[in-house]
Amino acid sequence: MQANWSYPTTIWFGAGRIEGLPDACRDAGIRKPLLVTDAGLAALPVTERVLDILDRASLGRSIFSGVDSNPTDQNLAVGIEAFKAGGHDGVIAFGGGSALDVGKLIAFQAEQTRAVWDFEDIGDYWTRANADVIKPIVAVPTTAGTGSEVGRAGVVTNTVEEVKKVIFHPKMLPAIVISDPDLTVGLPPHVTAGTGMDAFVHCLEAYCAPTYHPMSEGIAVEGMRLVKDYLPRAYADGTDVEARGHMMSAAAMGAVAFQKGLGGVHSLSHPVGVLYHTHHGLTNAVYLPYVLNFNRPAIEDKVNRLSDWLGIGGGFAGFMDFVMKFRSELGIPHSSAEIGVDGEQVDRMAAMAVVDPTAGGNPIPLTEAICTDLYGRALLGNV
Ligand SMILES: NC(=O)c1ccc[n+]([C@@H]2O[C@H](COP(=O)([O-])OP(=O)(O)OC[C@H]3O[C@@H](n4cnc5c(N)ncnc54)[C@H](O)[C@@H]3O)[C@@H](O)[C@H]2O)c1
Ligand SMILES: [Fe+2]
Repeated sequence: MQANWSYPTTIWFGAGRIEGLPDACRDAGIRKPLLVTDAGLAALPVTERVLDILDRASLGRSIFSGVDSNPTDQNLAVGIEAFKAGGHDGVIAFGGGSALDVGKLIAFQAEQTRAVWDFEDIGDYWTRANADVIKPIVAVPTTAGTGSEVGRAGVVTNTVEEVKKVIFHPKMLPAIVISDPDLTVGLPPHVTAGTGMDAFVHCLEAYCAPTYHPMSEGIAVEGMRLVKDYLPRAYADGTDVEARGHMMSAAAMGAVAFQKGLGGVHSLSHPVGVLYHTHHGLTNAVYLPYVLNFNRPAIEDKVNRLSDWLGIGGGFAGFMDFVMKFRSELGIPHSSAEIGVDGEQVDRMAAMAVVDPTAGGNPIPLTEAICTDLYGRALLGNV
């Protein structure tokens, strides 16, 4: 299974395509790349393999691995220092969503004169950026979840305000993506599950967002079918490259689809990630049924249509049953207490959730009272 796609950017898809990384750098105009990744991944043989590929092509083996899961503005600042000190002319963003986002942000922000927060994804803030100094990016995902490799935004925590912010610019879209499922075979089952559920939630929230965007909806429903059919296989056997490949496609599809909007699952999940440092996709998976059930009056018809495509009977209740079973088979905890959330900060989180940029995409407008209730339900496991 190999293919070259040019939507939404150039994507070289297939097992073994990582060998083409030097060609990707050349095509993107990068002669001295900085590979941006996280410390965990940097210590694995897969990273050594990629550095060897670069080395053999005389592209050096420069690496910055100071990226945290739920990356911060401090990670970005140190990364920009490394980029400048090394005289680099482009970035290879290598890893899960965290490393991809920081890699993209380094390439975007390194030569800007304004603070990164000036380019938050609000209105036309992105036009404030100097597009001419944005460095080229090659993205190489090693998880199948966020789809950040095909996205035009980077998510980073503002550590002063303790909020995740989305920074947007059209030129943050990587010039070339190498989507090679071989790179994901070492992903442990629980990370496979959490990241895969992130892709599913992207598709589902995008599909349900109350805006008119039939193209995104079409992509979203097929993305969910791929997750339904292949995530259990990738979870059970990490070396199932066919399943890994379909999951990589589903992840990219989720990110393409969510230009239509996201919703309450992400709105509730973002504050939890910032305050409790939980994994993003896992957190989404935990909150999914609570938000889904709350949204029922607004999405029932759409979910019925979706269920037909996915081969799930029993109307909305049948879909809910599917979600609950799917989650538990993937080892996802049912209550937020099981991922370390307590009741201490519910009011603060509810206030953060309603102003999260994803909140506007929820099919039923979110209020602090609604979010407080949903946080409380998730804590007790009371859908
Ligand atoms: N830009 C976007 O559009 C977008 C969308 C959704 C989420 N995000 C962001 O992405 C981040 C989450 O990304 P993620 O879910 O991919 O997790 P991650 O990047 O934080 O990685 C999770 C863990 O998996 C490990 N890992 C990655 N690849 C591996 C591999 N092949 N083998 C073994 N271990 C591997 C990493 O070292 C890390 O410990 C969050 O910060 C979230 O906010 C961004
Ligand atoms: Fe997400």
